[in-house]
Amino acid sequence: MLFTLLALLSVSTFGCALHLPIATEFLLQNGNNRIIGGKDTPIEAIPWQVLLLNQGRHDCGGVIYSKNIIITAAHCVCDTYGNILDPKIFDVRVGSSTSNNGGSVIKVAKTIVHDRFTLYPITEYDIALILLSSPLEMGPTVKAIPLAESVPNDGAAVLVSGWGYTEIGEASLQLKSVSVNIVSREECARAYGYKRITQLTICAAAPGKDSCGGDSGGPLVCEGELVGIVSYGIGCAEPGYPGVYANVVELRKWVEEEATKLSST
Ligand code: ARG
Repeated sequence: MLFTLLALLSVSTFGCALHLPIATEFLLQNGNNRIIGGKDTPIEAIPWQVLLLNQGRHDCGGVIYSKNIIITAAHCVCDTYGNILDPKIFDVRVGSSTSNNGGSVIKVAKTIVHDRFTLYPITEYDIALILLSSPLEMGPTVKAIPLAESVPNDGAAVLVSGWGYTEIGEASLQLKSVSVNIVSREECARAYGYKRITQLTICAAAPGKDSCGGDSGGPLVCEGELVGIVSYGIGCAEPGYPGVYANVVELRKWVEEEATKLSST
């Protein structure tokens, strides 16, 4: 149990810590912590997907909300103590299928984190907005995605994507996506408990398929609409432990209001 909790915490903090804490490394080396079943996907198929760079290095994923606003996970823009990091250390790469080149790289001007977010433990409200220092030029590889208005049914097929860890235990240079299915709150709470799995979260899983470390902040999409933001999980594609996502439908109002405020700063 203690080990499980440790693993949970360390996987959750990957986005902030930049380097993997020991427990996560243990999981990776033991082959438990990985995306399985993902396939290389061109950015044109997921043009709202962005890469969040922390001091030039792959940190997390993100999603284009508008020409100057990106949605990501709160834990991606916090340090390991839960303090909000200086926005100046972040850049966003848009319009590229590869994490280390292509597309354009834009400086982050400002970040805001949901004020109810807590890092230890991550439960709900794992969501943040990024204001870009210059507006995006939209095109076939750079597009915003609408926010869903209703939560998909249990079992619905959803697509998650990113440059996170793959089965070989390394972050992927090539953008990958994988189709998973919405898991009921009851089933997800069996793994993580009802305190963590509330209306504000949504879970998804499929045998041998999942998001993983480094995918945080990225999109979970159902029928062309954003339904979730990659948040945490125990291991990756670990039987009985679905991936947990911030529930965008429930956080939609917050996103809309804060985005309006941010755009006018
Ligand atoms: N917290 C991870 C990150 O920072 C995402 C983990 C997702 N885990 C999962 N099993 N779906 O990138």
